Amino acid sequence: MEYPLRSGDPSKLRTACLVLGIFSKRNLSEPAITVDKASKSFLGRILKKGDMDGKSGQFLMLYDVPGIRAERVLLIGLGAKKDFDLSAYRKAMAKSATILSESHTTEAANTLSLVEPQGSDIYTQMRESVTTIERQFYRFDQCKSNVEEIKRPLKKMGLFIGDRRSAKRAEQAIAHGCAIARGTSLAKTLANLPGNICTPSYLAKEALALGRQSPKLKVKILDEKQMEGLGMRALLSVSRGSRQPAKLIVMEYKGSSDKSKPVVLVGKGLTFDAGGISIKPSAGMDEMKYDMCGAASVLGTMAACVEMALPINLVGIVPSSENLPDGDANKPGDIVTSMSGQTIEILNTDAEGRLILCDALTYTERFNPAAVIDIATLTGACVVALGAHASGLLGTDDALVNELLAAGESSGDRAWQLPLWDDYQEQLDSNFADIANIGGKGGGTITAGCFLSRFTKKYKWAHLDIAGTAWKSGAQKGATGRPVPMLSEFLLKRCGLGK
Ligand code: BES
Ligand code: MN
Ligand code: ZN
Repeated sequence: MEYPLRSGDPSKLRTACLVLGIFSKRNLSEPAITVDKASKSFLGRILKKGDMDGKSGQFLMLYDVPGIRAERVLLIGLGAKKDFDLSAYRKAMAKSATILSESHTTEAANTLSLVEPQGSDIYTQMRESVTTIERQFYRFDQCKSNVEEIKRPLKKMGLFIGDRRSAKRAEQAIAHGCAIARGTSLAKTLANLPGNICTPSYLAKEALALGRQSPKLKVKILDEKQMEGLGMRALLSVSRGSRQPAKLIVMEYKGSSDKSKPVVLVGKGLTFDAGGISIKPSAGMDEMKYDMCGAASVLGTMAACVEMALPINLVGIVPSSENLPDGDANKPGDIVTSMSGQTIEILNTDAEGRLILCDALTYTERFNPAAVIDIATLTGACVVALGAHASGLLGTDDALVNELLAAGESSGDRAWQLPLWDDYQEQLDSNFADIANIGGKGGGTITAGCFLSRFTKKYKWAHLDIAGTAWKSGAQKGATGRPVPMLSEFLLKRCGLGK
């Protein structure tokens, strides 16, 4: 989609469809007032008939509005004026995009971008407009044989700005929005692909393809033999139960000087998690193809970073494997030695994410990172604790945790912190090894974080548990692309470019 900037009197703009916002109780937004005047109160008269009040979710398509140049006018409910914040803005923008996508117009002009949500600014508003609109247009149909083609798809959405002097900042916001949207879509598509297509080798190929897009991005893939050489026995113990070979994907983006320490993102890439010998119940097991959403978000964020050409050094690391039951799979009680030298008693083979992550986290030390964030669909307990709205966040560095919390707030992709207190650590005590891979009853998300913390002592670290936020279940089943928006915002802020 193209997003040209528009300014001036909306009633004078020639367009196939002009979008106007109406607050609750038929309260016209500023641009709607202008158009109402030009049309000799046509809008006011229509609204008085009671078709629309202006509540959030409402809309009304009008034809042949007199006194203006637009062929049609789409009215969008904004809700109560006093409650109009960024979240209400996103809802209205999303509604306008879905109605337009069904209305067979190829072009439209949107004045919602002139209605300022509380506590927002032009950059935020423009970027959120783009990411919100693009989200409405995402489709995953590459595994369907009969895809209905949209006859006249929307190609151009003009966005109004009030002041030409802010055009530069608005253009930048639109470019960033497009990059974040593309990164989010990439994450969604990788995650929506089934386990028989999206294998560790497939993820590796995708990463190599990404590397070909920019000379600043170098990608290398470590195979099982190389991992063996590094002593990654925890990671390899998981993939031993699968016929698909494990891969360690290493992506290095250089947008800044050699001297500046990189941010490292580490994403769990379990392309299918059946639980192994501690096998999962069969109901809903298909959703465990999503156990690579952490990896997908690392690739998506990397893609966004490359497109925005951020002046930062960023490393993406993806340990990738399947977790299946097999004659050679991990057995409960098995003890393995991790790359760090710590021995691990595997009391439950379904707690495999931490086994592949711990070796990737030790490997991360070699980059001398400024900060490390791992992203993983790590625990069902996180879904119980926080549901689908917030990702779980734990970390050993308060400043880093606060940066991520703030990035989540401003991108609408929020996280909630859980305590990583020492009190929880003893739940991981093992009778036979240095550490057990499960923490027993209670605090499952926290004890998983505690497990990882044993491998992250050498740098500033935070952990995002995205088990509840990375995909939706039920009739609308599908990946969300989270937390690409949060991570992109985090990187933008670090570059001094964010909100
Ligand atoms: N991939 C799962 C976590 C998961 C479960 C994500 C449900 C989303 C929905 C992870 O590998 C796992 O199986 N974790 C176990 C850990 C337990 C054995 C300590 C879990 O959460 O049940
Ligand atoms: Mn598991
Ligand atoms: Zn898993």
